[in-house]
Amino acid sequence: MEAIDLLTTRRSVLVRHLGDPGPSQDELNRILEAGMRVPDHGKIGPWRIQVINKAGQAALGELCAKLYAEEHGERANDKMVEFERERPARAPVLLAVTSRLEVPHNIPELEQRLSGGALCMNILNAAHALGYGAQWLTEWPAFNDEVKKMLGHDPSTDIIGFIYIGTPTQEPKPRNRPEFDAVVSEWSGPVA
Ligand SMILES: Cc1cc2nc3c(=O)[nH]c(=O)nc-3n(C[C@H](O)[C@H](O)[C@H](O)COP(=O)(O)O)c2cc1C
Repeated sequence: MEAIDLLTTRRSVLVRHLGDPGPSQDELNRILEAGMRVPDHGKIGPWRIQVINKAGQAALGELCAKLYAEEHGERANDKMVEFERERPARAPVLLAVTSRLEVPHNIPELEQRLSGGALCMNILNAAHALGYGAQWLTEWPAFNDEVKKMLGHDPSTDIIGFIYIGTPTQEPKPRNRPEFDAVVSEWSGPVA
């Protein structure tokens, strides 16, 4: 497929529709290399990627289940706790992407954050280009300090995405996109 067609046809695949096989190690490395090839003002590299392997997914799942049960008390039924335990293992590959900002720095914080978003987007596109599906999620664990701690991060570190990658078990349904003209306009200077 032409690169431009890949970009204009990509859709996120819901994590519950991502199955085996996941990308091989070589394919994953290519996806991650594509991820890192993003605009990065000042060459700061203000992002990190953790590949959370099966053991890591299990450990993280135990923590999710514990935190969920603690927070919801009697309202947390077994099925929901089990869902939390399995949350990180829903697809063959799980990545945690963090924004690692250099502050203070002459490169604005906003630019550093946006570079991380671009990295996530490149990962989605690269996965698609290799025939895989992916979904970029945050969900509650991205905003939880205990989760950050288990992954080795300070509470001030932002988890900007958990990216799940696998083979689509069904084609994603089309999603309405904004009208071109609602987004794009031509500007020819201030109105007199
Ligand atoms: C930073 C970020 C976080 C997201 N977190 C969630 C989330 O927690 N839960 C969710 O259902 N979708 C989340 N999404 C949305 C999906 O990744 C995705 O945008 C949606 O499924 C449609 O994707 P598509 O337009 O690529 O097909 C998030 C998107 C972004 C950019």
